[in-house]
Amino acid sequence: MRTDQPKVIHLKDYKAPDYLIDETHLTFELHEDHTMVHTQLVMRRNPERAGESADVALPPLMLDGQELELVSLFLDDIELTRTDFVLDDSHLTLQPTAERFVVDSSVRIHPELNTALEGLYKSGKMFCTQCEAEGFRKITYYLDRPDVMSRFTTTVSGEQERYPVLLSNGNPIASGTDESGRHWATWEDPFKKPAYLFALVAGDLWCVEDSFTTMSGRSVALRIYVDPENIDKCQHAMDSLKKSMKWDEEVYGREYDLDIFMIVAVNDFNMGAMENKGLNIFNSSAVLAKAETATDAAHQRVEAIVAHEYFHNWSGNRVTCRDWFQLSLKEGFTVFRDAEFSADMNSRTVKRIEDVAYLRTHQFAEDAGPMAHSIRPDSFIEISNFYTLTIYEKGSEVLRMIHTLVGAEGFRRGSDLYFDRHDGQAVTCDDFVKAMEDANGVDLTQFKRWYSQAGTPRLDISEQYDEAAARYALTFRQSCPPTPGQAEKLPFVIPVELGLLGAGGREIPLRLEGEDSASGLNRVLSVTDPEQTFVFVDVTEKPLPSLLRGFSAPVKWSFPYTRDQLMFLMQHDTDGFNRWDAGQQLSVQVLQGVIDQHQQGAVMQLDTRLVDAFAHVLADTSLDQAMVAEMLSLPSEAYLTEVAQVADPDAIHAAREYARRFLAGALFDVLWKRYAENRAISKATPYRAEANEIARRSLQNIALSYLMLEGQEQVVAACLDQFDDSDNMTEKLSVMAVLVNSPFEEARADALRRFADTFKDNPLVMDQWFSVQAGSPLPGGLDRVKALMEHPAFTVKNPNKVRALIGAFANQNLVNFHQKDGSGYRFLADQVITLNALNPQIASRLLAPLTRWRKYDDARQSLMRGELERILASGSLSSDVYEVVSKSLA
Ligand code: TRP
Ligand code: ZN
Repeated sequence: MRTDQPKVIHLKDYKAPDYLIDETHLTFELHEDHTMVHTQLVMRRNPERAGESADVALPPLMLDGQELELVSLFLDDIELTRTDFVLDDSHLTLQPTAERFVVDSSVRIHPELNTALEGLYKSGKMFCTQCEAEGFRKITYYLDRPDVMSRFTTTVSGEQERYPVLLSNGNPIASGTDESGRHWATWEDPFKKPAYLFALVAGDLWCVEDSFTTMSGRSVALRIYVDPENIDKCQHAMDSLKKSMKWDEEVYGREYDLDIFMIVAVNDFNMGAMENKGLNIFNSSAVLAKAETATDAAHQRVEAIVAHEYFHNWSGNRVTCRDWFQLSLKEGFTVFRDAEFSADMNSRTVKRIEDVAYLRTHQFAEDAGPMAHSIRPDSFIEISNFYTLTIYEKGSEVLRMIHTLVGAEGFRRGSDLYFDRHDGQAVTCDDFVKAMEDANGVDLTQFKRWYSQAGTPRLDISEQYDEAAARYALTFRQSCPPTPGQAEKLPFVIPVELGLLGAGGREIPLRLEGEDSASGLNRVLSVTDPEQTFVFVDVTEKPLPSLLRGFSAPVKWSFPYTRDQLMFLMQHDTDGFNRWDAGQQLSVQVLQGVIDQHQQGAVMQLDTRLVDAFAHVLADTSLDQAMVAEMLSLPSEAYLTEVAQVADPDAIHAAREYARRFLAGALFDVLWKRYAENRAISKATPYRAEANEIARRSLQNIALSYLMLEGQEQVVAACLDQFDDSDNMTEKLSVMAVLVNSPFEEARADALRRFADTFKDNPLVMDQWFSVQAGSPLPGGLDRVKALMEHPAFTVKNPNKVRALIGAFANQNLVNFHQKDGSGYRFLADQVITLNALNPQIASRLLAPLTRWRKYDDARQSLMRGELERILASGSLSSDVYEVVSKSLA
């Protein structure tokens, strides 16, 4: 907990370390009521810094350390006494007397009491670690910063019976048994690494084993360690790992470098997973998957996260970050890599749709809120607060733009140069961009504003057509709203991928004024000025532009399309992503009309063009079924909130539900047909988590969710049949989700009860059970959530449970969370206050919905601010919660 004023860390204050750690030798003695950590650091003065102060004495050595009980300390074999060093609650400072020296320390720590899940802690009966970003300082005194890279050897000792498996990074080099039932194992990691990549695991684990032969012919042992009861849920993760290893060789030329690669699944974990060198530690929700217990979405998430962590071996581990301001260097790049991997393994268009919908809903909201920051922030109080959608998702978009600008081959040349140049180093985002520039002979100076400027740029586009001259002009005006600490922004480089559609959807060859001939039907323009016009020539009919294809830049763009034009694009655009996007734009326009009607107390009426558009989509058998499912999904309430000036959660919910019912009624027969044919196939074939089948089930299930709104007996019967007679969680859970929102109380209660009976011992399935209920918009949502918190399967100490119940309520159940009496806000603030003391990272993340107060009406604003103030006044706050609350109130 914070005792003094929190310190703001600035990028501009970066200094290379005074000392380096060549070798790190760790010994852990694990016990039930404490753990001893003995550390030997082989250190020397950093030659890079020595020059600056050559004539003065050696600077003091300030080691990071928190919540450690120092038992002994030696400098070059001489024990230091209390007067030889200075100890406060975050540092141990001592005075070296030579350029090279060895520090030996012994500390006692308490993993068994660690509820923050940072450092060494217990998840169930197992010991595990989470060191990123600054958790290693809770294990031992160290230079806990990513630019200090060291070679580690680790010895772990524990009771043989309780902890038969003892793991750390690298290769096992020795093991043995001690006195009285204890044993030990020593691991050596041949690669230098920063402390945040350290890992240790001890437990009674089973493993699934496989192997991979790398492109140079080396055999790598692959192991996934899990609690024994989960041994049947590892195959999908193992398959995903092998695909990832192959893909990284093929697409980036990157080979794995150790003889063994391990994944361990733990139940208590703050995030998705962690890329520790050779020993990835995963939230069990990001590893375990099999048909009966995990949905299609869960299978795809496992594939993506396994890939993400594996890809970090190069983008993060071999080449790491100089400091935490460079976090997007590894995270943005690795998200981009995993997104491309998923696109190659599944449907590229559908993957892009999912990612863009997520970015526009959640990252745009973050960028418009009090915590807005650029992908390379200038300052922070608590780095854990910067593992954000901006660093990850927008960071990935920035790399995608570089990819678009230099092309796939140019990007590969750039990444080869980057890995070559910087292997074994801790570097900056500038180093990455420099490699891209040097490999391609391009100047990305202006482009780099994406790294330093926060906020979502606006791009307003208009057209001018001169029929007589056959000239078509597009004018782009860019701007970017102010964000905290950045009032004025300079123009960005915005890549605009586009095409022009003529009659019947024919694509018009693109020739810009001044060019000798047309070059293609699709091209990328670089918008670099505040206002810029591009003139296309030889345009003999008035075209309809298809703009920002594939979402070529993370901006909010507008073009004055009519609804009929959007319908045309939905049917005829050759870019699949833009077909979907046109549908979204149409839906937003139509829904905003209904929202206005609801707010004015008028009768709600739906523009029936939306019905026609959906009917076309349903009739188009050339479309991938997953595309159909995406195109039938109305923009979420969260997205409608994001695009509103002042969000009215009641009107948004009412309008969207009205539209869904209207569509269900108007399209019932065709929805039923597509449901029934796909359901028949699901019933007749065993489950496979494969793209076509996932696509089929997603259409089946969205059709069912519409059909249930009509409440016909035939549908309810189909629903119950799907619940009872299905071999997979995808079909079961989608029934649950429609039932909890339906008026059929008996069927609902029955399904919920039977589901819980069946799965009460499977925590990940129970998370789903909590989530669907927490998300139900039926009245009384808060009371249902409070009641569920008393359920034996719930505990506030497990982050997955908190996310499944409290997080789902605050983020997905907007009508209930935003109740006008402020009860939802009060509840969330209470949970944040409780969690602040237990797990600051989770408390701080849970808080996000309250930070969005500027989006709402005055009454809601003051209620939300009131709760933020109550949190601020609640006592001793963690730096995590303090930073978010104080910035939100500023
Ligand atoms: N580097 C991890 C990833 O991107 C992120 C991570 C895992 C993390 N656990 C964490 C970040 C805990 C902060 C705190 O996959
Ligand atoms: Zn990552």
